[in-house]
Amino acid sequence: MFAVEVQRSFTYIAGVFKMSLLFVKVANLISIDRTNKKLLQTLVSLCQKCNDSSTRMASHDTSQQGRITDYNYFFNTKARRRMPSILRELLKKPLPPQGITFGVGVPNVQTFPFQEISVKLKNGSSYKIDGKDLEVALQYLPSLGYPPLLKQLQDLQDKIHGPQDWTKQSLMVTSGSSEAMAAVFDMILTHGDPIIIAIPLYSGVAEMLRPYNPQYIGLEQDKDGVQPHQLRRLLEERVQEDKPLPKLMYINPTACNPTGRNLSLQRRKELYKIASEYNFLILEDDPYYFLSLMEEDTASLLSMDVEGRVIRAESFSKILSSGLRVGFVTGPSPLIRQIELHIQVSTLHTAGVPQVIVSKLLKSWDHEGYLQHIEQVKKFYRERRDLMVAACNRYLKDVAEWNVPTGGMFLWVKVPVLKDTWSLAIKHCMEKHLIVVPGHPFTAGLTPPQYNYIRLSYSLASPEQMDKGVKLLAEIIQEAVKNGN
Ligand SMILES: Cc1ncc(COP(=O)(O)O)c(C=O)c1O
Repeated sequence: MFAVEVQRSFTYIAGVFKMSLLFVKVANLISIDRTNKKLLQTLVSLCQKCNDSSTRMASHDTSQQGRITDYNYFFNTKARRRMPSILRELLKKPLPPQGITFGVGVPNVQTFPFQEISVKLKNGSSYKIDGKDLEVALQYLPSLGYPPLLKQLQDLQDKIHGPQDWTKQSLMVTSGSSEAMAAVFDMILTHGDPIIIAIPLYSGVAEMLRPYNPQYIGLEQDKDGVQPHQLRRLLEERVQEDKPLPKLMYINPTACNPTGRNLSLQRRKELYKIASEYNFLILEDDPYYFLSLMEEDTASLLSMDVEGRVIRAESFSKILSSGLRVGFVTGPSPLIRQIELHIQVSTLHTAGVPQVIVSKLLKSWDHEGYLQHIEQVKKFYRERRDLMVAACNRYLKDVAEWNVPTGGMFLWVKVPVLKDTWSLAIKHCMEKHLIVVPGHPFTAGLTPPQYNYIRLSYSLASPEQMDKGVKLLAEIIQEAVKNGN
């Protein structure tokens, strides 16, 4: 009731201001005395300021230049309310050897039963985590992550995405990129806010977003990803219709899940330009960056970020281990700090043992060794992709369409001979013990309910299974066409 009254009062005041605009015009016409005119002009300028600071127009700042200095506009009320956790902050600084602590309530590692963790790699080499390293791995860590790993990851970012200014940028370890992304949505979105997404999009993110009930600004994808001109048109329409502008775009630019295609460099540049013009942040979800099969890796949005508007979520899930749950997020320090504050009071930090395992692995490999490992992983997925595409060419050509994936582990298949693929995937394929995913979870509800895409992953099936499975899929599709479903 009170809120409604407040809103009414504001509407009334705005109305009065608007009336004053009219008065000035009239005053100019009939040239009333100077003092009164000044008073009215003050009212007008107040009125204009009031309009400028309204939520709708604040975001349409086409004069953005240089680095963003104040991120408050992007934070929701929840994020603005967060405060550092004093105990977590205390844990950040290492205690000098002569120091005495009666401080934070951490358990004593002497009571822990573990003596040593030994890690043996498939290439025959091995390393141990013991002594002080093991104590650190088993103890509570700072929320940002295991310090040696943070340093290694920063060095990696500098090498791969160009030197970052670590006085303005930060990096933190998260439990997979999922944790980082959930924290980003949590700090920016409020129920019903607009957000830019690609259609189709990673179903995990679609489900993260669902509880916010966002107004989706959905961008269709062709073989080179989303089309910036469509985004520009949609944003222009929103300005004309006086609709709130988005503060965030979510994009999965490399080997997009589920399309398997890369967003072209030209389009990345164009999207960044639009982000700058319309003042929104970009959440770059790039877990398949190292699984790109293009001749050259496409420059990340992080690497082109001069204004501090890219938050890059990454992961070791696809190249080292998904179960270790080690990911990391890089971006402007104020934004990473907000994620840190969130994690200080949720998971506290990513599990220590996996962080130390990854850190020691990277140390033993060095940068070159790491890149060599990535080349092997790429080779594996390239072979799998080629086999899967060959199997599809053999059996599916008459009933389905697809683009050859430029990386990752998915083939996004359209089945034009069917209107909808839900029962194909969920019923008919399942009955024959063939698992394919229907396209529907990747749409965020933005496509018509009848949707005829399926996603095929070529990560796990053996070459023989691929041949057998795709042949079976073609038969099931043909059967469904015959039966009219
Ligand atoms: C596009 C995309 N983003 C994020 C994730 C989650 O990765 P993580 O294991 O790092 O949380 C996945 C996992 O499949 C994914 O496909």
